[in-house]
Amino acid sequence: MKKGSRDVKLRTQEILEMDQTVLHPWEGFGFKEEDQTVIASGDGIYVFDGDGNRLIDGPSGMWSINVGHGRREIIDAMNDQAEQLCYASPWAHPTEPSVRLAKKLSEISPGDLNRVFYTTGGSTAVDSALRFVMFYNNVRGQPEKKHILSRQDSYHGSTYLSASVSGKSRDKNWLDFETSWVHLLSSPNCYRKPEGMSEAIFCDYLVNELEEKILKVGPELVAAFIAEPILASGGVIVPPTDYHRRCLEVCRRYDVLYISDEVVTGFGRLGHWFASKEVFDIIPDIITTAKGITSSYAPLGAVLISEKLIDEVEKCENGAIFANGFTYSGHPIACAAALANINIINDDKLLEHARDVGPYFQKRLRELKELPMVGDARGVGLMGCIECVINKETDQLLEVDYDIGKRIDTHCQSLGLLVRPLVNMCVISPPIIITRGDIDKVVNILRTGIERTMADLQREGIALFNW
Ligand SMILES: Cc1ncc(COP(=O)(O)O)c(C=O)c1O
Repeated sequence: MKKGSRDVKLRTQEILEMDQTVLHPWEGFGFKEEDQTVIASGDGIYVFDGDGNRLIDGPSGMWSINVGHGRREIIDAMNDQAEQLCYASPWAHPTEPSVRLAKKLSEISPGDLNRVFYTTGGSTAVDSALRFVMFYNNVRGQPEKKHILSRQDSYHGSTYLSASVSGKSRDKNWLDFETSWVHLLSSPNCYRKPEGMSEAIFCDYLVNELEEKILKVGPELVAAFIAEPILASGGVIVPPTDYHRRCLEVCRRYDVLYISDEVVTGFGRLGHWFASKEVFDIIPDIITTAKGITSSYAPLGAVLISEKLIDEVEKCENGAIFANGFTYSGHPIACAAALANINIINDDKLLEHARDVGPYFQKRLRELKELPMVGDARGVGLMGCIECVINKETDQLLEVDYDIGKRIDTHCQSLGLLVRPLVNMCVISPPIIITRGDIDKVVNILRTGIERTMADLQREGIALFNW
């Protein structure tokens, strides 16, 4: 496709008109968002919109295009696999890419998380992990052990089960959820912790809350705790130091399984294959992963399950069948994409690279805190977020209706950067191939986007900044 040509422009209008037929995720029907940006092509850290404008892909799709756009190695691997074999039933037939990938995943996963259950993405990975936990307890003769603990602000997916254990209150208004056996604990958000409480005391509070909840519900009824190492779409919430390790200790004390949802944090975003062990010093019982596993070149998810749990099920010898799975579990083309993606991460030393540039990204992002509207700038590795407030002294939120993130995104797009707006926040999670020079570009554009937004708000009489 020719970039920036008139033909492409014409196609953009056509695409936008045809898009009226499409029902997008998280869309309010009847008030379709205008001015959506058609993405026509991608190259490295850049995407090109339908008018040929080049934009840095700040969110890397959905935290997921880790090795960047247009990687020939992945494209060729998918092509070759499609020519060789496009599909075989995962019920009956092992295929070479799916077994090779499973071997690779068991090598790079922590501890004894060596068994791989393939899914089609992150939601189905979380859903399958939860169903496995139910299955596991049924097989062990503890069918009443079903309650799941999760946290406010978490996001685990969009199937009934994965949405039920998600904690973003804004998403709960118009749909139904399982509530009888799901318990949401406090968000480990240090920025919004109670006034005057130190991070260490806040951590004690959160860990005690987990233990008290287990005791209140009854350890014999609580099956698992599910946690993102860093809450991603809740606003890149980094828990207090030692939080995960201490939560795992509590879970171990009461025979509660620990599911680490690494759909975002896996495959290099925090400089490691997985963040659980290397960054947070925990070996969970189950890891769910997706997104960066193929750098989004193909839909794929996986549940990595501890050998110990599988052994326990096997020992029961009662003929139990885990009746859960998908036509496209471990699709050969997706697995071929994942293998090529992993090779790139290895060959280009992208984990080392992410560990090198991550702290620089965080340092530059935090400089934005000097702007009067930026209440917090936070993150780890290549996950970053700025949270805007109207008054820094009181951390007062901007009215949701002002859609501050969207306003910043619009300015940033005009300057060559896509960001992911989340109400009063903007998320940046660039491809992990990003260089220091490109990080400078990202942060400089973001700064201008925020400044322009502050000027707009001031002009419109919405906020008055001391600036
Ligand atoms: C932590 C986490 N888990 C699960 C999911 C769901 O993944 P998917 O959208 O691939 O179904 C997401 C999606 O953003 C996520 O961030």
